[in-house]
Amino acid sequence: MRAVDIIIKKREKKELTSQEIEFFIRGFTNGEIPDYQASALAMAIVLNDMTPFETADLTLAMARSGQTLDLSKIVDIAVDKHSSGGVGDKTSIAVMPMVAACGLPVGKMSGKGLGFSGGTLDKLESIPGYRVDLTTDEFKKQLKEKGIVLTGQSLDLAPADGKMYALRDVTGTVESIPLIASSIMCKKIAAGAQAIVLDVKVGLGAFMKSLEEARKMAKLMVEIGKLAGRQTVALLSDMNQPLGNAVGNSLEMVEAIETLHGRGPVDFREHCLHVAAHVLVIGKRAKDLAEGRILAEKSISDGSGLEKLRVLVQAQGGDVSYIDNPAKFVRAKFISVVETPRSGIISQINARSVGEASVDLGAGRAQKGDSIDHAVGFIIHKKVGDEVKKGEPLFEIHANDEAKLAEARQKVLTAHEIGGAPVPPLPLFYE
Ligand code: URA
Repeated sequence: MRAVDIIIKKREKKELTSQEIEFFIRGFTNGEIPDYQASALAMAIVLNDMTPFETADLTLAMARSGQTLDLSKIVDIAVDKHSSGGVGDKTSIAVMPMVAACGLPVGKMSGKGLGFSGGTLDKLESIPGYRVDLTTDEFKKQLKEKGIVLTGQSLDLAPADGKMYALRDVTGTVESIPLIASSIMCKKIAAGAQAIVLDVKVGLGAFMKSLEEARKMAKLMVEIGKLAGRQTVALLSDMNQPLGNAVGNSLEMVEAIETLHGRGPVDFREHCLHVAAHVLVIGKRAKDLAEGRILAEKSISDGSGLEKLRVLVQAQGGDVSYIDNPAKFVRAKFISVVETPRSGIISQINARSVGEASVDLGAGRAQKGDSIDHAVGFIIHKKVGDEVKKGEPLFEIHANDEAKLAEARQKVLTAHEIGGAPVPPLPLFYE
């Protein structure tokens, strides 16, 4: 078998066999198949799609590219939650500690930023010392002892996805249902989660632009989860405007910490409570969503969620004083408040443009392996449906470069549409 023939077959819109997919993923993982051939195959998949069978084969091949954990001897049930990627989406950083504080062990493998969407690992790495490269033994030990793990793909867990993810970020090959579905599900399967909640984002700032596409991807991932013997549910949530107010790594960390303190933006808090309730139900700690929500709310009001975040950060080598004193997070050199140009009602805040502007400021990568700037980003002050008055603060730019600040100002200002007619607030969840 030759990698080039597999690429050509996909280019010709033909269905790949399990053996071909396995061969390609094994070769790519061990370095026999180079990045340029993997990028070419990824592009052929973006353009020509995959059948559900191919997607399931790709998922299982990537999950098997390293070790697969069996957590059943370590905890009675390990749950996980994963977002399909959005802007301002720091949900895992708040929800995982909330759920763990309710006595449900969570072991999660997250990703770095991807295209215009932010990555949980990049956010966590704004805490000095925080390690995202735990070995499988460390993963298991921490899950057993602390009940919470939030790490990245290690060399021994789904390494094929780690390599592919970094390539996709910089080769325009992110937006593809089979690539996203397999990337998410292979991590979940490899990390041994028995119950999984998928937060599938829909809208301008998501990889799935329509409810129809999002539904298709959600169903595919739930099917793959079932095939692998994992209990899986998917939620479809809005990503037309940024979630919460903060966009950018440190800024989002601070917002997640604030939320665990019982402060933070109302939309983000509501989103987290709903996701946490689902995780608690699937993890059998709550009999229904109402009870799950009460437990999740309690983890905020009694401080146990925040305490779990401390435990997590400490266990992974991070400086816990950042959780107690978020003012320590690195700040950008220039902070500029942009005023509302005219009075009216916000009808749109294009989340994709805000995400792209954040990457341009340095919060994401242009090339594989680029370092990122943890300080830069935005604070969005108004949401869709809000009434605004000319001259009041619309958003805030955090930048380390004056020229980039000026570009970001223009782009994010254009992302805001202000009209005269009333606009209902956007829903948090669709289904
Ligand atoms: N999250 C992932 O882990 N992979 C993707 O491709 C998109 C979101």
